[in-house]
Amino acid sequence: MLLCHIASALGQLPQVNSDDWTSAAVCAECHQSIHAVWRESLHSKSWVNGVFQAAYRRTKETYGAKQGRVCMSCHAPTVRHTKDYDAKEPITAEGVTCDFCHSVKGVDMSDAVDPIRVEVGAAKYGPLRHAQSPAHKIVNSELHKRSEFCASCHEYRNPNGLTVLGTYSEWKGSSYAKRGTQCQDCHMPLVPGRVVALDVKPDAPTSVNLHNISGSHDIERVRQAVTLEVEGYEWIGDRVWAYLKVTNKGSGHCFPTGLPMHRAVLEITLRDGSAAVGMREIPFEIVMLTKDGKPISTEHEAFTVAARIRSDTRLKPNEARRIEVAFDKVKATRLSLSATLFYEYTTETLVDDEDGQRIEPVQMKFLVASRRNTIRPAGR
Ligand code: HEC
Ligand code: HEC
Ligand code: HEC
Ligand code: HEC
Ligand code: HEC
Repeated sequence: MLLCHIASALGQLPQVNSDDWTSAAVCAECHQSIHAVWRESLHSKSWVNGVFQAAYRRTKETYGAKQGRVCMSCHAPTVRHTKDYDAKEPITAEGVTCDFCHSVKGVDMSDAVDPIRVEVGAAKYGPLRHAQSPAHKIVNSELHKRSEFCASCHEYRNPNGLTVLGTYSEWKGSSYAKRGTQCQDCHMPLVPGRVVALDVKPDAPTSVNLHNISGSHDIERVRQAVTLEVEGYEWIGDRVWAYLKVTNKGSGHCFPTGLPMHRAVLEITLRDGSAAVGMREIPFEIVMLTKDGKPISTEHEAFTVAARIRSDTRLKPNEARRIEVAFDKVKATRLSLSATLFYEYTTETLVDDEDGQRIEPVQMKFLVASRRNTIRPAGR
């Protein structure tokens, strides 16, 4: 009753479309605080972001427009229903938008063609029990609290049957899944914020699930999840041994996860004073190959023609990996060892400015952890 009273006091409240998608701008009228963080998320930019647009263009140029529709099914998921394959409607550009996620009524991961069941229109599916809204119907959904919800886009097998995105299955096999820790528990924690604006519903909850849903683009989160230790070293004769340990202690899946272009590398450098006398690189990566054995280095190839896995040296959830490296013929006197773990993503982006549209290479490289030790000869 209170609700109706407030609604009439406010006059016209924005309503959602009862038989079609509704823009995030409408949801924002009442769900301001959720909208403010979603707008900054990669989900809201999954269609417009230049990195995606470059790869999408390559896909269409290399494999044809039909293959491009596959990309749209996750990066502009409303096209599953609008069939707006030329991206003419504004809702398409909203990418993974509010209304898409909150219209999901079921996920069936055994359906390889399309695991997502959606009900477009009046009802919004969400985790709150006993919620009531003057703008839309509400359906309580336990699915929204579970990893299967995210799996519908974060697990993908390409036409060759190769798992290109395996974040869900990596999680499924982990201790986190056994303990019941879902994607949302790490990626959408409860934070202070109004579920609905005060003037619309004064008694609505005052904590919200964080909707920026960040991953490795939030480097602080990576730094908390992955640690690097130098466990010891030995300098025997002219050989130096270094013993290190890299641990995935906080990531609920492999580190790195997702696209095969996401990789980490541990750089170990032995120095005499400031001059490098030896260097090793230990990669943490999944390397995919085409049918003909050519390594895959781009997103459009990974999603379309990757056929098998050459190697997978990523850190499994909770894995602590010992690394031993030896440097031979060391003659130096003032030795030090530095070890640095980087997260890297090499890709391309579509730039659109006064010189027109073009694709440019991008390399992102972030420092995750770093250690430095002085090394003395054995027995001293
Ligand atoms: C006129 C205001 C208004 C608009 C516009 C609006 N909502 Fe809501 N919404 C509410 C209110 C009020 C609640 C109930 C909160 C409660 O009872 O605690 C709610 C609840 C929800 C819930 C929670 C349901 C649950 O069971 O967890 C979801 C999800 C939701 N809205 C999504 C949306 C989406 C998506 C849009 C845009 C398509 C939207 N809303 C537009 C007012 C609005
Ligand atoms: C409708 C498809 C879809 C659903 C459902 C979905 N995602 Fe995503 N997600 C994407 C796409 C597409 C991207 C890539 C966006 C881009 O960068 O272009 C992405 C990106 C991400 C990222 C990367 C952000 C970063 O900083 O690197 C994280 C983390 C993430 N999603 C987590 C989740 C979680 C957790 C859920 C479930 C609550 C979820 N996603 C549900 C499609 C989806
Ligand atoms: C990637 C999918 C996704 C997108 C995009 C998304 N949500 Fe959500 N939303 C969720 C999930 C999952 C939950 C429940 C999380 C939980 O309970 O652990 C949720 C919860 C909610 C709730 C219930 C209150 C709360 O915080 O738990 C509301 C209201 C809501 N979302 C509104 C919105 C609005 C408005 C937008 C757009 C501005 C939006 N959502 C975008 C997946 C999404
Ligand atoms: C125990 C906490 C935890 C759980 C559970 C968890 N994640 Fe993550 N996730 C992280 C951390 C920490 C990172 C950053 C380090 C990394 O990239 O692994 C991350 C990164 C990501 C990324 C970014 C990948 C990249 O390199 O850009 C995506 C996408 C993602 N998670 C999706 C998911 C999905 C989907 C699930 C559920 C199937 C999930 N996560 C479960 C903690 C978690
Ligand atoms: C099954 C859903 C799905 C399909 C289909 C899909 N993607 Fe994605 N894509 C994602 C998710 C989820 C992420 C982000 C997280 C990750 O890397 O794990 C992503 C990330 C990306 C990124 C990185 C964006 C960034 O900002 O870092 C590019 C580029 C990309 N996809 C291109 C494509 C192309 C091109 C296609 C079509 C050939 C495609 N995707 C098809 C789900 C999908």
